[in-house]
Amino acid sequence: MKTILVTGGAGYIGSHTVVSLVDQGYYPLIVDDLRNSSPEILEGITRLTNHSFSHFSVDICDKKALFSLFNQFSIDAVIHFAAYKSVGESCAAPLRYYQNNLIGLLNVLEACERFSVRKFVFSSSCTVYGEPEHKQVYETTPKRLPESPYGYTKWMGEQIIEDLHRNTLPFETICLRYFNPIGAHPSGLIGELPVGIPNNLLPYITQTAAGIRDQLTIFGNDYPTPDGTGIRDYVHVCDVAEAHVKALTYPGAAPLEAFNIGTGKGTSVLEMVHLFQSVASIHLPFVYGPRRDGDITEISANVDHSKAVLGWEAKRTVAEAIRDAWHWEQQRSKSDD
Ligand code: NAD
Ligand code: UD1
Repeated sequence: MKTILVTGGAGYIGSHTVVSLVDQGYYPLIVDDLRNSSPEILEGITRLTNHSFSHFSVDICDKKALFSLFNQFSIDAVIHFAAYKSVGESCAAPLRYYQNNLIGLLNVLEACERFSVRKFVFSSSCTVYGEPEHKQVYETTPKRLPESPYGYTKWMGEQIIEDLHRNTLPFETICLRYFNPIGAHPSGLIGELPVGIPNNLLPYITQTAAGIRDQLTIFGNDYPTPDGTGIRDYVHVCDVAEAHVKALTYPGAAPLEAFNIGTGKGTSVLEMVHLFQSVASIHLPFVYGPRRDGDITEISANVDHSKAVLGWEAKRTVAEAIRDAWHWEQQRSKSDD
């Protein structure tokens, strides 16, 4: 059984990936100090996987503790999720973002090199494309400078990995550029746990529908799109999780390869609101507000390369993702009562 070290494995995308890994016969070691997760998620993973994983509460910026973990196990591959991810927060506290996201990455890469790990999968983001010239982006679309310190940490993360490959890096690396992961496990046992007021669209919608927030503000209705609201490529988190399992078996002709992880289809904010109302059969109060700083108009993934080379494509619809996110929200609201 192959052992996969998953940094950030108790987080939103990490927890769904751990479940997919166990489903496919891997043994995941979760390295996560739960700074943006909770024991509830570990319990959910336990219920879904029958205890087939281990968890270590280690800060990946603590190099000594991290290396000691790598020393204890024979690790076949590393999937590196652990990072901070809020665009707005990164503008307010850039140092915190650069420290955690870059030092964490450097430590994990050094450990992979030192302990002869053969494969490394990096959580990247469509943010590396910036505001693209064409709405649909290919992996070969030139990267643009990001709009936030968070975006720069992903941009630099890819650059660090590329630079290492140019010289010595003795292992294969795959960068998965996620578009907008949404939804939750259909069981309702794991899902996204936004701390405080959600920044992302779908958690804000589900919390509004659950009565936790008064109304959704749609950030801008004057974009040059058919209904004036921003367009993104929303992809079910279980599909995103499965892309990581594919990445582990991908033979990797090139030592470094990037893949777009999206559906190829854009959905506007207003369409998301209408879709939510029809899936949940609930009226969702919303108002239009000004554009949010740093937002782009429209982006979606070209997924030809992911389909043809990685053998991955999204199987679930946006409506299914909305249904599962709403189910997760309802389960959480029940457990909070
Ligand atoms: P998340 O915050 O839910 O998960 C990250 C996990 O890492 C958390 O459980 C947190 O406790 C842990 N962590 C953070 N810093 C740590 C440290 N120093 N030591 C140990 N554990 C630490 O985020 P997510 O949505 O699951 O995102 C996972 C990755 O994917 C991140 O790198 C993020 O930047 C990237 N990404 C996310 C999205 C998205 O929309 N969710 C989009 C593109 C890229
Ligand atoms: C952003 C980042 C992405 C990052 C992700 C995770 C950019 C370009 N993208 O995605 O890299 O990985 O966050 O945090 O920086 N919206 C509203 N009202 C709300 C919330 C959102 O109208 O209350 C709109 C936004 O304006 C946007 C869409 O919904 O058009 C999606 O927003 P969001 O879920 O925050 O994701 P991104 O900003 O696309």
